[in-house]
Amino acid sequence: MLRTHTCGELRISDVNKTVSLTGWVQRTRDKGSLLWIDLRDRYGITQLFLEEGKTDASVLTAARGIGREFVLKVQGIVVERISKNDKLATGDIEIKITSIEILNSSKVPPFTIEENTDGGDDLRMKYRYLDLRRNSVRENLMLRHKMAQQTRIYLDGLNFIEVETPVLIKSTPEGARDFVVPSRMNPGEFYALPQSPQTFKQLLMVSGFDRYYQIVKCFRDEDLRADRQPEFTQIDCEMAFITQEDILHTFEGLVRHLFKHVKGIDMPSVPHMTYADAMNFYGSDKPDTRFEMKFKELTSVAQGKGFPVFDGAELVAGICATGCAEYTRKQLDELTEFVKKPQIGAKGLVYVQCKSDGTFKSSVDKFYSADDLKKWASHFDAQPGDLLLILSGEKAKTQKALGELRLKMGDLLGLRDKNKFSALWVVDFPLLEWNEETNLPTGQAGRWHAMHHPFTSPKPGDLSLLDSDPGKVRANAYDMVINGTEVGGGSIRIHDRATQQLMFTKLGFSDEEAKKQFGFLMDAFEFGAPPHGGIAFGFDRLCSLFGGADSIRDFIAFPKNNSGRDMMIDTPSTISQEQLKELSISVNDLKK
Ligand code: AMO
Repeated sequence: MLRTHTCGELRISDVNKTVSLTGWVQRTRDKGSLLWIDLRDRYGITQLFLEEGKTDASVLTAARGIGREFVLKVQGIVVERISKNDKLATGDIEIKITSIEILNSSKVPPFTIEENTDGGDDLRMKYRYLDLRRNSVRENLMLRHKMAQQTRIYLDGLNFIEVETPVLIKSTPEGARDFVVPSRMNPGEFYALPQSPQTFKQLLMVSGFDRYYQIVKCFRDEDLRADRQPEFTQIDCEMAFITQEDILHTFEGLVRHLFKHVKGIDMPSVPHMTYADAMNFYGSDKPDTRFEMKFKELTSVAQGKGFPVFDGAELVAGICATGCAEYTRKQLDELTEFVKKPQIGAKGLVYVQCKSDGTFKSSVDKFYSADDLKKWASHFDAQPGDLLLILSGEKAKTQKALGELRLKMGDLLGLRDKNKFSALWVVDFPLLEWNEETNLPTGQAGRWHAMHHPFTSPKPGDLSLLDSDPGKVRANAYDMVINGTEVGGGSIRIHDRATQQLMFTKLGFSDEEAKKQFGFLMDAFEFGAPPHGGIAFGFDRLCSLFGGADSIRDFIAFPKNNSGRDMMIDTPSTISQEQLKELSISVNDLKK
């Protein structure tokens, strides 16, 4: 090694040792007779110092030619600092330099490589290798490493085997678009990159692997958001001969293990909530349960008093915001504007201020007496000082909008603390959801989609509803939700050909299409497929949650931006005519 120690290692007990350090120049301070250099590597920062008259003149001259991010090898003696820096682990000592070797120079970096950098997003993405020198970004990747390591330790301890599955595959229907790769050797034909290794892990169960996992890259061509990347990583798992309870227990164990060994948090056991309750009480299938503020339905209580908006509504429901009765007109107007935004979709907001003197003031005083409002307040268990916020309309839309308002109030009231963690299992998802926007090949408008994916098994007791009321059939599917983020999801699978065939038919696949796309899986089910099920966690999401961040980008070494671009290597990009020709892709086709 070129060094005897790292830049984060030396302490007061090392005083008088002769050491060699290597690293990058964080900054230099030249006070004339004294010169300091902060030397950084991934382990920390150590202060170097040189003194006119004491340090060799040639070493001083070399040091004065050094700029930010130069790469150095220095030798010197550890001395105790006169003015100590308790913010640095090495802050008790400094190195009296005897020699400096410049291993490489550096251009002035485009942004400061410090905690509070002056670099904007785009610039930091373009020079990601410099951004990665910053402490906070590097620490995020260290956390990611630790999470992967602890995941392997936990799963290995339970006899799971890590198996790699192929990346050049055929389309898997996880609900997003596929990224495709043209095949040179098979002109006109394409591979798809896996949206998940779903079918392969099921086949591994048929092969008798019994317990599989893989920390694996998945690819989905979908609109990007803070918690979505086109390529992301899953902790993908599958087990045979299990019940849903076994899966929930095993993977609750994984999450608790990670909290314990990565964050030192003893997490309580994870409660279960049905999808129906999640929608009715939180208006979301991924409720943030760090705070209560559950919905209360007011439909029967509020209807029949001549307020047409409520009288014509399928659902009247609200939340009670503790201690917000004194919100000003402006604050209430802002909340009204918020719910009326197109992405929230409410037509208006009704409020009731439960004043501390026991009186009520509402936006619907014209229609409701003080007695009526008192009834509402007691329905909400509201106390003097609280504010009721009520929405109405079509059930699903009202629940969704109220869910958003609840989160907004959670933010305003500081109830969504990033250092607090609240996990739950959401269970009993519907098997199917109706999508107006996609059509059957027959041209019929709208079709049923698998809410999780088509390999998910219906609850046996609900199978009889599949023809009469498909939307009511529940699935053996579950999501793990932490702080309002879906960190993982899975299901018990169908493992017989007839049911799988039936499912494809319900989803509008012709027998021929189903066979073409998934014949291999249905064939495999005829060779002794064991009952099985599994789950996949969004690894990037888990990491960002553990790191207390909203965006998964900073937990990925080389992420894409919101347009799916890698700004550093500048891709996607065009390819040469020659390559296109080899792939039998006509340039004219591309131009169309
Ligand atoms: P699902 O589609 O629910 O299930 O994905 C599992 C988890 O992966 C994460 N995730 C993402 N993370 C970042 N960027 C994305 N674009 C993205 N998409 C999904 C989420 C999600 O909970 N094969 C099934 C699992 C199974 O049934 O076992 C699957 O992929 O955290």
